[in-house]
Amino acid sequence: GGSDDTANSGGGSGDKKIVMGFAQVGAESGWRTANTKSIQESAKEAGITLKFSDAQQKQENQIKAIRSYIQQKVDVIAFSPVVESGWDTVLQEAKAAKIPVVLTDRAVDSKDTSLYRTFLGSDFVEEGKKAGQWLVDQYKDSKDPVNIVQLEGTTGSAPANDRKSGFEQVISADPKFKVIASQSGNFTRAEGKQVMEAFLKSNPKIDVLWAHNDDMGLGAIEAIEGAGKVPGKDIKIITADATHDGMQALADGKINFIVECNPLMGPQLMDLAKKVVAGETVPQRVVTDETTFTQEQAKEVLPSRKY
Ligand code: AHR
Repeated sequence: GGSDDTANSGGGSGDKKIVMGFAQVGAESGWRTANTKSIQESAKEAGITLKFSDAQQKQENQIKAIRSYIQQKVDVIAFSPVVESGWDTVLQEAKAAKIPVVLTDRAVDSKDTSLYRTFLGSDFVEEGKKAGQWLVDQYKDSKDPVNIVQLEGTTGSAPANDRKSGFEQVISADPKFKVIASQSGNFTRAEGKQVMEAFLKSNPKIDVLWAHNDDMGLGAIEAIEGAGKVPGKDIKIITADATHDGMQALADGKINFIVECNPLMGPQLMDLAKKVVAGETVPQRVVTDETTFTQEQAKEVLPSRKY
């Protein structure tokens, strides 16, 4: 108990309803849409009142939303930081107002870990490593150079930074792997397509595309087909997420390998929020459970995928 007795009504039955303010990144990808749905549905199921805002991939909008949640004296603030840096001031404001913060999906680089209670989300470095490992295994019998292009996620975001570094850690063991071009496609289909078109124009020989999410990979497939090449054959494609559309492209042979990133973290988030509001201690870090998919595996699991 002992939580601040401030605003919020309660249902009249005596039990006060928890109010959560959630500052979402945006609606940039199929992954994000599934993540938002999971959070909204789980809040309802958990009996938590959800105030939700969409920052359209802009940090300033997220900071505004968090400040407004502080003003409204919500019980708990959860957010998925669009980029890693620049959060200390607003997080200190939340701390001064005694409102606990739960990081969801993406991390912040704040040195002061007392600014948030816990961080629930994937291990993005591990995801990058899994992508790199698949590549190493695929080309283990060949000595020829492998020309790789990379579509990075939103510049400065944890998944872009970490997937890039995890991938590089693994492929750098063999100099035949060469990242010949790497640029942000901002996690969207449209930008993935645009950047891939530019890559294709300036690089005559591309063997592999590593796209930091399915959406950019799907946009790139359109660019590759537009250039008269066959995705999945002429250019091998690795992506992250395993959304429905990504898994369909994998089953169709247009993508070769997908590293799963699970967006369905709503139930775990509501659970952590209740504990934090009740003053219980929670682990500093909760990592979501994830796997990888080959083309054969995608065909098998596609009918039962939830996002
Ligand atoms: O933070 C998770 C990443 O954000 C997902 O991989 C991507 O699709 C989303 O936009």
